[in-house]
Amino acid sequence: MNGGKQEIQIKRVSCRKRSRDGLKSHLTPARKRGGHPPCTQQQACPKNWKLSSIMADVPSAEFYSDSEDLFGDYDSLLEDSSLLAQLDSAEQTERQRSAADQPTAGFTSLRPANAAAPCEDVLTDSILDVLGDEPFEDSQPYLPASQHQFHQEVHGDAQRTSPHAGDNKTSTPLRDPVAKRPRPAAARRSVTERLKKTMLGNAAAPSGVSRAAEMKEAAVSEEIGVATRAVETASGAETADLGPFFGLPTKVKDLMFNLRGIEKLYDWQETCLNLDCVQQRRNLIYSLPTSGGKTLVAEILVLRELLCRKKDCLFILPYISLVQEKVRGLASLGLELDFVVEEYAGSRGRFPPVRRRSGRSAFVATIEKGHSLVNSLIETSRIQDLGLVVVDELHMLGDGSRGAVIEMTLAKVLYMSKSTQIIGMSATLGNIRDLQTFLKAENYTNDFRPVQLKEYVKLNDTIYEVDPKEEDCFRFSRPLNFKYSSSMQKMDPDHIIALVTEVIPTHSCLVFCPTKKNCENVAAMICKYLKEEFLRHREAEKGVLLRALRDSGNGAVCPVLRRTVPYGLAYHHSGLTSEERKLVEEAYSSGVLCLLACTSTLAAGINLPARRVILRSPYVATDFLKRSQYKQMVGRAGRAGIDTVGESILILQDKDTKMAKTLVSAPMENCYSNLMHDEGKGLLSLILSLIGLNITTSLDQMKDFLCGTLLFVQRKQLCVETSLTETVQRLVGLLEDKHLITVTTESHGGQTLQVTKLGRATYKGSVDLSYSEVLYRDLSKGLEGLLLNSFLHLVYLVTPYDMIAQCKPDWMLFFRQFTLLSATEQKMSAAVGVPESFIARKAAGQTVRKGVNMEQVRRMYLALVLFSLLKETNLWSVADRFQLSRGFVQSLLSSSSAFCSCVLHFTQELEELWPFKALLTELTRRLSYCVKAELIPLMEVAGVMESRAKQLYNAGYKTLSHLANADPAVLSNTIENLFKKQANQIVASAKMLLNEKAAALQEEVDELLTMPSDLPTAAKTQQPV
Ligand SMILES: Nc1ncnc2c1ncn2[C@@H]1O[C@H](COP(=O)(O)OP(=O)(O)OP(=O)(O)O)[C@@H](O)[C@H]1O
Ligand SMILES: [Mg+2]
Repeated sequence: MNGGKQEIQIKRVSCRKRSRDGLKSHLTPARKRGGHPPCTQQQACPKNWKLSSIMADVPSAEFYSDSEDLFGDYDSLLEDSSLLAQLDSAEQTERQRSAADQPTAGFTSLRPANAAAPCEDVLTDSILDVLGDEPFEDSQPYLPASQHQFHQEVHGDAQRTSPHAGDNKTSTPLRDPVAKRPRPAAARRSVTERLKKTMLGNAAAPSGVSRAAEMKEAAVSEEIGVATRAVETASGAETADLGPFFGLPTKVKDLMFNLRGIEKLYDWQETCLNLDCVQQRRNLIYSLPTSGGKTLVAEILVLRELLCRKKDCLFILPYISLVQEKVRGLASLGLELDFVVEEYAGSRGRFPPVRRRSGRSAFVATIEKGHSLVNSLIETSRIQDLGLVVVDELHMLGDGSRGAVIEMTLAKVLYMSKSTQIIGMSATLGNIRDLQTFLKAENYTNDFRPVQLKEYVKLNDTIYEVDPKEEDCFRFSRPLNFKYSSSMQKMDPDHIIALVTEVIPTHSCLVFCPTKKNCENVAAMICKYLKEEFLRHREAEKGVLLRALRDSGNGAVCPVLRRTVPYGLAYHHSGLTSEERKLVEEAYSSGVLCLLACTSTLAAGINLPARRVILRSPYVATDFLKRSQYKQMVGRAGRAGIDTVGESILILQDKDTKMAKTLVSAPMENCYSNLMHDEGKGLLSLILSLIGLNITTSLDQMKDFLCGTLLFVQRKQLCVETSLTETVQRLVGLLEDKHLITVTTESHGGQTLQVTKLGRATYKGSVDLSYSEVLYRDLSKGLEGLLLNSFLHLVYLVTPYDMIAQCKPDWMLFFRQFTLLSATEQKMSAAVGVPESFIARKAAGQTVRKGVNMEQVRRMYLALVLFSLLKETNLWSVADRFQLSRGFVQSLLSSSSAFCSCVLHFTQELEELWPFKALLTELTRRLSYCVKAELIPLMEVAGVMESRAKQLYNAGYKTLSHLANADPAVLSNTIENLFKKQANQIVASAKMLLNEKAAALQEEVDELLTMPSDLPTAAKTQQPV
């Protein structure tokens, strides 16, 4: 397919400011969304530069933690209290009332009243028994012609020319002069490699390895080996080619085909990879529409860095789920190409990472973990090992405190390592030049989409095509064809059913809804009017899906899904557990489900395209859509390779028409620095970490560093130009007041900035500055009477402060749960400020005047939820008992495990808090998995969730080693609903994890056995002291 119009803008900005030595580390909190508004001419410059409130002694409304990773997003703001949710409820009530009404011809109401029962019919054994075989292709061992040829040439000692040499513009491999050299001494052949070989052997054993596969393996490792030796001797070369596929061995091309189904790169991908700036490893921002195939370019660059330059790479993605998906995707490549993939998300990831002598690592991280990783590399003077940083969804720079964290990370990399390349990709960037200046990057833009997108709006009964070039923006397209009864018209005034039934079940459809509740209502409403034939479409697979959902819920299936799945419909939002979400996503991808009613979170990064995308209204909760949100949602329309065209339909009411015209025709929103977001919290924590890492130890150095930030680039627009120096001074003073840093005046008059122990603990633990003092106080007080015969006290101490605001205790429930606690647990609760008497009075509906800190009370309530979870490990029953959505309970759990690991790092820096070290290590592990202990080793494998772990365990795969050595074919035959492709991924991820663990142990052994370089010599020891 053609790349379409291209625009290459080249702008090289002067050389970078660089490095200091002796570096320490930092971590910064995150969360909190909402862009930092630019200062327009009409607006006064922000006056909210006063930072006193940041450091308030008792944090009030908001706390922060390393909660990157919550799926929540917009959703978290949308609990049922929103206006739209209320409207939904009213809508639902109305629907129930008119449920008895008969729809007119065209739509058949199959089960208006008791919807649950018929689903049981669908779940009969006969349906489940008919479970078909996997729809995914299997990768067969084979040896491509090029490898045969290479194999022969290597062994025949012949000069080799790549068979693809004429096909592309990359240079030819360097080989011959060194090809005959002996390998560098392999004396320290790593445990990892041996292990890998053994495992590859073991895993292949049952099925028998074909001769071709053996030859392929030998040829490829020889190819890599020869070229690597060439690279080692090629002095001065920045990047040496290893083969004809954009400098990579042909094997990579084959793997891309086998693992991803990619036969050929899109034209733009080839052009981009062949750009001079890319070849010369200069920084690059590339931006293309949604589904343009941006990831592949980044992955090829990552592979080049890992294989050709032998440098580590960092891939930053916005959500845990995306990180895990990427880890799974890269694991198979890593095993084949011999690099390690390490996950940095939630509570996972080592700081600093294990140093590997034998190979390189691809770190896949969330925004916050990526920042912590960079800090730890700076601290241990290893930042030069990082060859490449890739930031996906770069426009998130403008996204509240998370944007600030991206900016800090990139500014530090730019300042500390001139050899580290930065690649940013995005579908939605307005002011790209600002970002180019910040990143000293070049830009590649292309409007390529693999499938053409046609945008429409629906107003009353008419569909209009969006054409921003027309004066009116909307051009008449067609009247909507529907026949509704009056009751149906009442139920579905927006004609969603008519719109979706034009495409489903043959094609797929996404319906974006403004609230979570609305997603459920829309899915339930649609299926109520679908014809019976919908039930028969892929009936058996839908039965299997329902069974899998039931397993994931320990026997319980969400009543809405139970109703909608038999029709091929589901809802998708953060109220689902991650396991349910994954099952729903997989079923939708494979066509078992044909429609998802979802919130805008689905549009962010998940690769789930649809033939038709419907935006049920131009709102997210009560906010009118932003241009970038709209683009991301409609961009999901069109499945590459399946659809010839993708369509989006935005449903409008008359009142929204004017704003909608602006929405569809306005230029992209701009992206602004968020260091000053939330009264400068980002800048404050940046300054603390810069001092802590010894990057800047004076005000002058600090200003020098800040000149390399996006904030500095946009200082005029953000109105901070004149006050930057003053602001830095004020913030330094603030940090000093809070005993996080010390400022010493030197004899020459200058000032030296140093971090205190509390300051170090704060940035090392990613603890938000506004509550580091509170945390310290809570932990110190906790030690005075730490309750150790129960988890409750420890759980309370690691319950994230930033979840408190979302908690509204049900007092009766609270009281009931409280009375179930042991006497010592109740005593502990009273000691932290939550006495039984208070809860009892609240439960009795009395007003309590006594000064009780409500934040502590709410924190205890959340701690009780977590405590129940740890005891029972049944998310559904705990969610039920506390009347919370299971998605919220799961968010609470994952954010607590992340915060627990932050608190662990915090306490490690403060000697007086030493007892927590051992306790929190174990607690982090328990909170991270919250399942029966025997399942934990299996769940450490990316993509294995609880119900899958149970299946595997029951089938005899009880340890990581069992999984790593499993035969994927046997696995998928034994385990229900496990496709071959998934089995391959599980085995590959398990092997990768085992490799990683073994390598870490090997590194430890190596370090123990290595002779210190500064061992005193005889001559030195004889010298007088
Ligand atoms: N050359 C190619 N040939 C066929 N399919 C491709 C090619 N490149 C990418 N794809 C596929 O296109 C789909 C979308 O690609 P990708 O996720 O990289 O899009 P994106 O540009 O990152 O979009 P978004 O902005 O939504 O993140 C993926 O399934 C990917 O495997
Ligand atoms: Mg992408």
